[in-house]
Formats: sequence, C-alpha cells, structure tokens
Amino acid sequence: MMAISIRENCWVGGQWVGRPELPVINPATGEEIAKVPDVGSKGATEAVASGANALEGWRSTTASVRSSILRGWFDLIGRHRDELARLLTTEQGKPLAEARVEIDYAASFVELYAEEAKRIYGEIIPSPRADCRIMVTRHPVGVVAAITPWNFPAAMVTRKVAPALAAGCTVVLKPAPDTPLTALALAELADEAGLPPGVLNVVTGNAVAIGEVLTSDPLVRLLTFTGSTAVGKQLMRQCAGTVKKVGLELGGNAPFIVFDDADLDAAAVGLMASKFRNSGQTCISANRIFVHAAVHDAFMGKLIELVNALCVGNGLDPVVDQGPLINNGAVEKVERHVADALRQGGVLVTGGKRHKLGGNFFEPTIIAAAHDKMLLAGEETFGPVAAIFKFDNEKVVCDMANKTDSGLAAYIYTSDLGRIARLADALEFGMVGVNTGAISTAVAPFGGVKESGIGREGSRHGIEEFTEIKYLNICISPGI
Ligand code: SIN
Repeated sequence: MMAISIRENCWVGGQWVGRPELPVINPATGEEIAKVPDVGSKGATEAVASGANALEGWRSTTASVRSSILRGWFDLIGRHRDELARLLTTEQGKPLAEARVEIDYAASFVELYAEEAKRIYGEIIPSPRADCRIMVTRHPVGVVAAITPWNFPAAMVTRKVAPALAAGCTVVLKPAPDTPLTALALAELADEAGLPPGVLNVVTGNAVAIGEVLTSDPLVRLLTFTGSTAVGKQLMRQCAGTVKKVGLELGGNAPFIVFDDADLDAAAVGLMASKFRNSGQTCISANRIFVHAAVHDAFMGKLIELVNALCVGNGLDPVVDQGPLINNGAVEKVERHVADALRQGGVLVTGGKRHKLGGNFFEPTIIAAAHDKMLLAGEETFGPVAAIFKFDNEKVVCDMANKTDSGLAAYIYTSDLGRIARLADALEFGMVGVNTGAISTAVAPFGGVKESGIGREGSRHGIEEFTEIKYLNICISPGI
C-alpha cells in the first residue's frame, strides 16, 4: 500500500498542477507544514472547464459503476485512516483520537453514497388523460462547486463530494486555505479508486478570486458551501447572476437545555461532547447552555469537574483532549466574548484566558450568570467557552432558545415525554438532540432553518440536492 504523501499542487483534470506558494501552518506549533498553489481566477476557470469536459462521460456511467468507484474510495480511506488522521491533526489541530473519528465519519458519507447512487428513484404520476403517462426522473445537476471549511477538513469534503459524484455530477472543490492538505490527500485516493480525470478537481488559493469564478461561471450549476452566515449570504448573492442552485450549511447558535428532571450526569457528559468537541469549533456546538435553577448548582459541580480534567496541548500527543484553535483570529474572538461577558456581569467559574502554552491555545472556560445581552448569546463563540444561563420555566426557556436568527441544532435533556413532544414541535431548529449531545451521523439529514442555511446534507435527502427533476408527458395518441 502506497503511503499518503503531502501534496503541494492542485488536482485538475487528473494532473497535479500549480506552483506551491501559500503556506499551510500547523496551528499547534506555528510551523509551516507545506505550501499550496494560489490558482487565482485563471486556475479556477480551468478547473470548471475540466469539470464540464468530464461531465458527459461521468453522468452517462451507470449507477453501479459510480457506486463501485465510491466503494473503492471508501476502502482506501479506511486503509489510510491513521495517516489521514495525522495529516488532519497536523493542519487543523484537533486531537488525534478526534481526527480518527472524523476520518471514519468522512468515510461513512462515501460508503452511504456508494449505496444511495443506486437508489435515485423517479416516480410515475397518474395522468388526467387516459392515453398519457407522467414520468418523473432525476438527473445530475451538472458541474458542482464545493467550498469547504477548516473545522472538519475531511468530513465536510466527503459530505458534499460523495453525493455529488454518486448523482453523476462533476466537482470543483475549494477547501479552506487553513486546511487544504487533507482534501488533496482525499483527491489522490479518489484517483487511485478509479475516478476518471476531471470528475473531481481541487483548487486552492485566494478565496475571493476563486469564489468569484465559482459563483459566476455559467458552467457551474450548483454551489454548496459550509461556513459563516455572512460569507454564505455573499455567495448566495453572487450566485443570483446565473441562478445557480445553492446548498448552504451556515452558522449555528445552539441552545442546550437541562431541565430539572434530567439525568444530570448524562447531561454533563453530553454537554462536554457537544461543547468541547473540536475545541468548540463546530457549527452544532452548544453555544447557550440553559440550566434549570433547581439543578443549577448540582449540574455546575459535575461540569466543573469534567472541564477541569481536560488536557490541553498538541493534538498529536495522545493524552491531549483539547487542541489549539485554528488561528490567532479565532483566539481573539473568544477573548472578545469572554471580556464582554465578564463586563456585563458574567461570573468566571474556570479558565477565561489564553493557555500558558501560548500560541493558539485557550483555556477550557465556564462562565455562569450569562444573559441575552452578551455577545456570546447573540453570536456563536466557536471556542471552548461554556456559557451558563439560568431558567425556571419551560415556555420562557423555549422562547429564549428560539431568540436567534440561527436555527441549526438544539439539545434538550429531560425525562418528561410530554415535554419532549412539546419542544420537538416548538424549537425552531433543523436538528434536535434529545438526551444526547451527539447528533452527527451520515444517515441523518444535517442542516438548518432560518439563517443557518438551505438544504440538507447526509441521508437520502443529501443526494437529492445534487439532482434536478425532469417530467416527461408521454401520450400514446399524438395530438395536442
Ligand atoms: C459543522 O460544524 O459544520 C459540522 C459538524 C458535524 O457534522 O458534526
């Protein structure tokens, strides 16, 4: 088995192209790991042309051919799991154990869509005319542009690319500038699995120049993006000129509600999984933690113990639970949220500042007495800060939870079935975890409502996003 090499070129039309120039930095050490090209608008246009040239051949393959290539890609990702995880940790910072989980999560999308490729069904609708048949079929949307984030450098790539390929689309992928190496390694494995040249193209470089091409080139028929709400809105505006389909997975501001009838040990563990996974740099991370007044102190005791036990350091060290944040800008945002919360009456329970390791490390933090005027209530902190709000009424906490423009994920811990049913209806979020802080799986539809995005990823819904419906009216007797 060939070892994964660090690729310093882009992958376009089945060739490694471009001159390495933009540094990729290890967020734990500040060291340069590699350089990647800055393809600019010319390189992006060439990648789109490459996807367009490969489209006819790829869309006319059978579902079973696409399925077996994806299955081969899945197998190769599994075989290279440890190397991919190390590469991911080196460029992104998350602990190695979490990186392995992410590689498995990434592979699970490829496996799922190898299967779903064979299940892109149409429908027959009874016609109002006796001699006619109405047939509905699904077709690949065409060339897809995928812009992926740095927080999940493997899983967000496969969650978009695998269903697009399974549906018969070709792809131009632009990974985040902080974490392009995992995406390039995945492209190399897709090639080894037999994906024809030009079906998947990966470009790196200046986001504005590349984004401009991907949103305006008429050959691109769908843009799928995961990232901030502000950038998502901008890309959506840019796509309007050529009326592209868009799939947007944008920011969240997840409420995590612990009721007085909850299993507090389970709630504390669930919160750790949701809040401190990836150092809090997750769109579905608990951002506002509402704890019922009657169990507030008991819950805090459990949480403090778990948070203080977290070991911060370089993710390559197997004892580490929390790696660095992605870059200094991310640390500054967390500092701003903490300072604002403390200025407005928040109580610092633990942490609260840059970690003594320096660089991009931040202490796991708990702030009590949080309220809705604080920055951390209005925006996602995207860092290891647990902000605790006290409440004493179900209706009031539900209204507080919904008081956000975001609507991605919400969590509740309770043992009351009636309350589960009420809140399942009332919470304005695309995903709700009940007595769990872990909702991510390839087989469920991931996505949000309100300003958290458009469309769903994962599950059978995730492949439909990459198809267009065509309706055929077949009449036996020719006529009007
Ligand atoms: C995200 O943060 O955008 C994705 C998280 C996940 O899939 O669990």
